[in-house]
Amino acid sequence: MRLAVIVIPTYNEAGNVERLIPLVFKHVKDLSNWEIHILIVDSESPDKTGEIVRKLLSKYPRLHLLSVDKDGLGKAYTDAFQFAIQKFSPYLLFEMDADLSHDPKELPHFFRSIEKGADFVIGARYMKGGSIPKEWAPHRKIFSVLGNLIVRFGFMKLEINDWTGGYRAIKTWIVKDALSHIKNYSGYIFQIALLDFAIKKGARMKQIPIQFADRKIGESKINAGQVIFDIFTYIFTHSSFIKFAIVGLLGFFVDFGISYLFIEKVKSAVWLGTLISTETAIISNFVLNNFWSFSYKKLENKVSVYLSSFIKFNLVSSGSILIQTVGIQLAANIFGRQLWYVYKILIIAFIVIPYSYILYNRFIWKEK
Ligand code: GDD
Ligand code: MN
Repeated sequence: MRLAVIVIPTYNEAGNVERLIPLVFKHVKDLSNWEIHILIVDSESPDKTGEIVRKLLSKYPRLHLLSVDKDGLGKAYTDAFQFAIQKFSPYLLFEMDADLSHDPKELPHFFRSIEKGADFVIGARYMKGGSIPKEWAPHRKIFSVLGNLIVRFGFMKLEINDWTGGYRAIKTWIVKDALSHIKNYSGYIFQIALLDFAIKKGARMKQIPIQFADRKIGESKINAGQVIFDIFTYIFTHSSFIKFAIVGLLGFFVDFGISYLFIEKVKSAVWLGTLISTETAIISNFVLNNFWSFSYKKLENKVSVYLSSFIKFNLVSSGSILIQTVGIQLAANIFGRQLWYVYKILIIAFIVIPYSYILYNRFIWKEK
């Protein structure tokens, strides 16, 4: 028998908790391999949500209540995870909203996916079979869709469709590892921080479609402006794709600067200056990518590994040069040479960047 704790955060959900709790227990009662608890984490709701839950405690022995300060959704979850881990040592933890937007009848599907070997199950709205409410106002739809797209492309992890949702099953070992990271994110951004951490840890991910229902009672506490700001900040500090792009740009300046130095100041031969500058840029890119962009999967600290990876890195870089040279000449032949810099930018953006990013990930900085 394995233990699971479904963590449900509440802030002013008096009209919802009383309906949700029996529904959750009803939909998981046939899962005989599991001992399932609910932990409500309430942030001192002024509408007395906490008191309503407290009255239900005697009726449901597997219902628990944790009261915390009002410090945001992420803080409530982190506190509740810590509490649940200490008190129950569960195998599995859940995230679930209290406002009935997350249909409890989906719960068994999450358990099935875990039993089939997933470490982290995402209830996804943006995949086949999933949906967001039709009755949402256009601005809310745009905010949600756009927010997710920004994260998907910001991390260049297109296979994850729903980054921000809050209906998830996560094995406890991941949450335990993630605690020190997610403690820094007290708002809704915590959802992205936890998911990003799990992926970098090599958790086996599984998405199942969910139909997100609009709440009937109470109102959403999400602050769109804040969330968008937090999303950009998080991506810029944590996306290896963005860091890889910055390193590339830096490499361009290193290359250019050293060429200039050698050719103009030292008066060396042009070919020699170029050779020194490109190789210096390649070395600095290699080091920065290893210790910064892909630091979570940096190379094994062995001379042989560094050497073989560095050779591969040089090969990929030569490939980039070849693609650019041939591509620009081809474009110039077809469209004329006046706009060579436009071709160069387009080729770098749409061919060289994806090409090198994919090859680095596949052959040099492989997932653990
Ligand atoms: N304890 C606590 N403290 N609970 C909170 C807090 C807080 O500060 N803020 C929100 N909650 C609870 C709500 O009571 C609800 O049960 C759940 O967290 C989700 O909050 P909503 O206010 O209903 O947010 P939403 O429906 O707009 O947000 C949904 O979509 C987001 C973005 O996709 C949720 O699924 C979020 O988890 C998700 O990030
Ligand atoms: Mn909601």
